[in-house]
Amino acid sequence: MQGSARHIAVFGAGYIGLVTAACFASLGHHVTVRDIQPERIRLLQAGDVPIYEPGLGELLADNKELLTYTLDAGEAVRDAQIAYICVDTPPTASGDADLSRVWSVIESLRQAPHLAAVVVKSTVPVGTGARIRTALDQAGLHHVGYASNPEFTAEGRAVTDFFHPDRIVIGTDEAATARLLTALHNGIDGPVQAMDVASAEMVKLASNALLATKITFINEIATVCEATGADVTRVADAVGLDHRLGRHFLNAGLGYGGSCFPKDSRALRAMASNSGYSFQLLNAVIEVNDLQPRRAVQRLKTELGTLRDKRIALLGMTFKAGTDDMREAPSTVLASRLLAEGAALTCWDPMARPADTQPWNQAERRSTVTAALTDADAAIVVTEWPQLHDTEWAEARPLMRTPVLFDGRNLLDPEAMADAGYTLLSVGRATARPPR
Ligand code: UDX
Repeated sequence: MQGSARHIAVFGAGYIGLVTAACFASLGHHVTVRDIQPERIRLLQAGDVPIYEPGLGELLADNKELLTYTLDAGEAVRDAQIAYICVDTPPTASGDADLSRVWSVIESLRQAPHLAAVVVKSTVPVGTGARIRTALDQAGLHHVGYASNPEFTAEGRAVTDFFHPDRIVIGTDEAATARLLTALHNGIDGPVQAMDVASAEMVKLASNALLATKITFINEIATVCEATGADVTRVADAVGLDHRLGRHFLNAGLGYGGSCFPKDSRALRAMASNSGYSFQLLNAVIEVNDLQPRRAVQRLKTELGTLRDKRIALLGMTFKAGTDDMREAPSTVLASRLLAEGAALTCWDPMARPADTQPWNQAERRSTVTAALTDADAAIVVTEWPQLHDTEWAEARPLMRTPVLFDGRNLLDPEAMADAGYTLLSVGRATARPPR
């Protein structure tokens, strides 16, 4: 690898930036990571990993000689041949993506004497690459190539996804940049899809919107199942056997969350709206997803009569298992709604680090599932943590004030739970009740 080892600058030490940096370093490249948060850089320099992502800590430690961390953009680009932009692009009040962090990186590239290409991994509206190309040209950086290389990694499996992606999308309008980036991905087990910049930008938004639509579709089917007596898990299993449809992303639940689907679906909708087009399918997807956790609270309220002064345990807080990420987690909507109904909250999660603000500062955190169930009038399975599979539910039942569970992940077996003495509500399956 030494012969083709490159100097890479990675802007943004979040999930995507750190995984990109660690994986390229493990392929033998020199990587300088730049972030604007002093605490984050201090931790990384001290050998700590500021986020949880399986395999990331090991990769950073094993390749520490090839990795440098800095707050200084000039230092990051001093030797860089390729600059990766992995900064966040949060939505503004109008729903557009805030690209200010992207632009400040572009500004710093004037100080990069060896730069051959700048690559955007951050999710951006279609057309951003063309604007960046113009800005580079105006700054006299005609010789610096531009590419869009969207990431499709899912949290919790980002390192595996980097080395074994379904596809590597390289969007550039320049042949030399396409060659440079295709060579950079040598050794990564996935087909390269080369295309123009605008199409690459759209692939990311379209992929996430379609996955979000698939989840929403099955959540809608689940609601119809509840009304008609069908079982959504059986339906999804059989529907998913059709190879044209596939079983992935057909798990009904409390709605999608996380750092990508909610943000990207709203960004695509805003992008369409800005050109005068109402993306009606996406409007419906977003609305149904917003309703999903609210429906769960409503069903629990119907079951318990009232939620006022009831203690409800939230089992899981992160938006999915295998991550510490709480961004757009359905648990936060559930917690706020339950508090608004006058309930008291207990919560458990093995990894979550929620902000000490409403609603989490009003929830009592407990360290085990059984501790969280103690004295609860009902519990909601929010995240599909393996600990919930492993819980001795029959033994835990007497700890609860009333043994009512809402399985927001369809994780538990209704018959076994009913035999263990629980009333089990779930999403798109009949409510199971203990035998009389
Ligand atoms: C997603 C995409 O998978 C990834 O390609 C993109 O780059 C970023 O967004 P991530 O947000 O890490 O990744 O999580 P993912 O595993 O895709 O789940 C997203 C959300 O959908 C979670 O809240 C999950 O619980 C939910 N989900 C997923 C369902 O409710 N049902 C399903 O069948 C699948």
